[in-house]
Amino acid sequence: MIITKATALANPNTALIKYWGKQDEELILPMNNSISLTVDSLSTTTTVEFSEKYTEDQFFLNDEKQIGTPESRVIKHLSLLRSEANKNMSAKVVSKNNFPTAAGLASSASGFAALTVASCKALGLEKSEKELSMLTRRGSGSSSRSIFGGFVEWIKAGEGNESYTKQLADKNHFDIRDIVVIFKEQKREFSTREAMKISKETSSMIQGRLDVVDSYLERMRKAIAEKDFTLLGQTAEADCNLVHSIALTSKPKLSFWIDETLRTIKLVKTLREGGIEAYYTVDTGANMHILTLPQYAAEIETILNKIPYVVKTIVCKPGDGTKIVDNHLF
Ligand code: DP6
Repeated sequence: MIITKATALANPNTALIKYWGKQDEELILPMNNSISLTVDSLSTTTTVEFSEKYTEDQFFLNDEKQIGTPESRVIKHLSLLRSEANKNMSAKVVSKNNFPTAAGLASSASGFAALTVASCKALGLEKSEKELSMLTRRGSGSSSRSIFGGFVEWIKAGEGNESYTKQLADKNHFDIRDIVVIFKEQKREFSTREAMKISKETSSMIQGRLDVVDSYLERMRKAIAEKDFTLLGQTAEADCNLVHSIALTSKPKLSFWIDETLRTIKLVKTLREGGIEAYYTVDTGANMHILTLPQYAAEIETILNKIPYVVKTIVCKPGDGTKIVDNHLF
C-alpha cells in the first residue's frame, strides 16, 4: 500500500498594504499588489497523509473534524495539488493553530501555506518558492505571502499573467514588532472571501483605493528598503483606513471594528503623542495589530495588559517562511 506523509509549519502574515478585491475569483488573482510581514510566534502546523487506505478526504482542525466550507475549501485545494502531481489518493489532513482561528488573525494564510507545502512534499512535487506561492494562492490569496519569511510582496499579475510572491527583505533586515491584540475569540459575520466580493460589487470607494494603491506600495517598498519605520507605520495605517472605508461603504455595510478597536486606535494615537512610535492595522476580525519598534514593545504590552477589554497580547517579530518539519501530528 502506498502511503506518503509530510508535515509543514507556516506563520501568518500581517498585511501592511492589503489585498482587497479579486480580478478573478476562481484563479484568485488580486486587483492590487500587496505587501506583508510574515510574523513569528503565531503558527499553523499541518500533517497531510495521502494513502490508498482512505476512501475520502478528511480535515481535522484543532482536534475537530471540519465540515461545510472549511472542509470543502481544503478538499478543493487537495484536488488541485493531486492533479498537479497526477495522483488520486485521498488524504487525511490534521492541522493545529496556536492562535484563535477565523478571528482576523490570518489563519487562512498560514493554514493554506502549511497545507500546500506539506501536500507538495507528500505528493513528491518539487516546487520552487515562487511556484509554491502560485499554488497556495489558489487556496487562499494571502497564503501566498506566507511562503516567504520577512517582508513580502504579492505581484497581482506579472509576465504571462502569473501572480506570485517574492521576498522584499528577510526577517533580519528590519527589526520591528507586531503586537497582536486580542479582544475576544469570536467568529465573524461575513467571511473575508464574502466581504471582499460584496465590497468589490457594491462599494463606490473600491476604485478610489485602486487609484492610489500604487503610490502606497511605492512608499511601503521605500520604507522597508530604507528601514524608515515612520513611513512604514503611517502608510500601513493609511491603507488600513482606506480598506475599512471600502468595507463600511459596501451594501450591506461591513464593519469589522468594534468599540474596543476604536478605543485602542485612540490609545495608539495617545502613545504617539507621548513619544512612543506605534501604528495600528486591522484585518477582517475585531482584533488588531500594533506595529512598533523593539524598544517600545514591552511598555506598550504592559499598558495593553492593564486594559480590561484586552484578553491577550502576543508580541511578534519578523518570522520565517513555511517549512517542512519532522514532527507529524498523527
Ligand atoms: C483583509 O487571503 O483570506 O487579510 O483569497 O478569499 O482566501 P481569500 O482571502 P484572504 O484575504 C485576506 C484579506 C486581508 C488583507 C490581506 O491579508 O492582505
